[in-house]
Amino acid sequence: MDNDAHPPERPTRPLDPTGSRLRTLLAQAVDYVVSTVDRLPGSPASDLTDIHHMLADPRVRAAPPRDGRPLAELLDVLDQAASKGMNLPSPGFMAFTPGGGLVTAAIADLIADVLNRPTGVAFPAPALVAMETDVLRWTADLFGMPDSTMGTLTTGASIATLSAVITARHARLTGDFRRGTAYVSDQAHPCIAKAVRLAGFPRDAVRTVPSDADQRMDVRALELAVDADRAAGLHPFLVAGTAGTTNTGAVDPLSSIADVAVRERLWFHVDAAYGGFFQLTRRGRDRLHGADRADSLVIDPHKGLFLPFGTGCLLVRQGELLRRAHSADSAAYRQDLRDTGLADFADYSIELSRDFRGLRIWLPLHLHGVEAFRSALDEMLDLAALLHAELSHDPRLAVTGRPQLSTVTFRCRVADPDAADAATRELVRRVNDEGRVYLSSTWVDGRYAGRVCILNHRIDRDRVAEAAASIRRHAGDIVKASAAGRR
Ligand SMILES: Cc1ncc(COP(=O)(O)O)c(C=O)c1O
Repeated sequence: MDNDAHPPERPTRPLDPTGSRLRTLLAQAVDYVVSTVDRLPGSPASDLTDIHHMLADPRVRAAPPRDGRPLAELLDVLDQAASKGMNLPSPGFMAFTPGGGLVTAAIADLIADVLNRPTGVAFPAPALVAMETDVLRWTADLFGMPDSTMGTLTTGASIATLSAVITARHARLTGDFRRGTAYVSDQAHPCIAKAVRLAGFPRDAVRTVPSDADQRMDVRALELAVDADRAAGLHPFLVAGTAGTTNTGAVDPLSSIADVAVRERLWFHVDAAYGGFFQLTRRGRDRLHGADRADSLVIDPHKGLFLPFGTGCLLVRQGELLRRAHSADSAAYRQDLRDTGLADFADYSIELSRDFRGLRIWLPLHLHGVEAFRSALDEMLDLAALLHAELSHDPRLAVTGRPQLSTVTFRCRVADPDAADAATRELVRRVNDEGRVYLSSTWVDGRYAGRVCILNHRIDRDRVAEAAASIRRHAGDIVKASAAGRR
């Protein structure tokens, strides 16, 4: 749009800036956004110093003033506040599940917020709801799920999982559902057990199935647990497999779990929150084999598509079951809403009023094209393999397994296991203190392990090489000191 096309200035209203004022505000915001993104490669991957000082800063914690303050001043405060904590969009952030935060999704958010159409019901914004429905269809097609599939975009995997469990409860249990039991591996994300509890089940309704040496669910143990529960008069109703565990990136034997689910009439839930979008790649498709058989599948675009936090997704193979579990009674005030022929997301989710969340996925997919995402995810698999190779060659490190996706875990090679725990903890601390990369840790087979998760569209070979060099350098010092201490 060129400048001549601008409509005449609107009258001034205090809460609705005129065109020229809006341009000034947006220009300041744009400058801030561009400089923030430009600074990312050079800024620390975390800064956890002086947090209490920042939390007590009266500039940060000020009550809203009677009269407004300039945006530049507010951006300054915001920038200071954001400087503390973990810098998740940084290319050096490799802890927990990283969140790159596509800037183009933020552009979509800005536009969606200005359009401000609620999308819980299709009638106020039918074509926008259709675009979001197409995003869901595209995601279901990735897994070859049938036309009957329906789902919703949520704020994250936890909410999506809650809807999945509620749907499974309605679909598989009748009468007193509290005798129902659900099965997860000991590596499953806690949001599944939490969802079962939130869905009204007692805490002990969740059975923890052991995993094998590769941290994948032991399917034989699953069968035995289901048999034992049936013999005790309980009602097994759901099994959850994970397509990429948070701890180590392990992919459960999804096809075998699906076989058990069919045989035992269990709802087969797949938690693909972290690993799901690797399905875009050939290697990912091979590794996630069986995810396509899910009754419900949770996948997080705010992980695997690098979107800003607040974007999860639920797909349910028989969408009608999702609707039956979530639709509300009609209300008199809704009588003017006409049927569009489209599904109303409110009938398939917990929410009624909701933002136009789909644009945050639709716009980047159309702007960059699917290939850009596929090749970024392919690169993540390469970088994880590279890091694994670098660390495996180092005699002072013990690397656990080959990465099944983009997560690598390691320990210092010290003879005494307790000393190895302490040495590895110290290693992670030293690497993180340098600020260039930020790692986290977990427990593998009951032992402390350093953990690297590569899932950020800004990360590159150089930063991974830097991470490997830093881990190896500190491992050298720590293992040497530990050996000297033993003498
Ligand atoms: C495998 C897995 N499932 C579920 C979750 C929970 O996702 P969310 O934070 O989007 O609720 C995570 C988060 O890291 C995860 O890695």
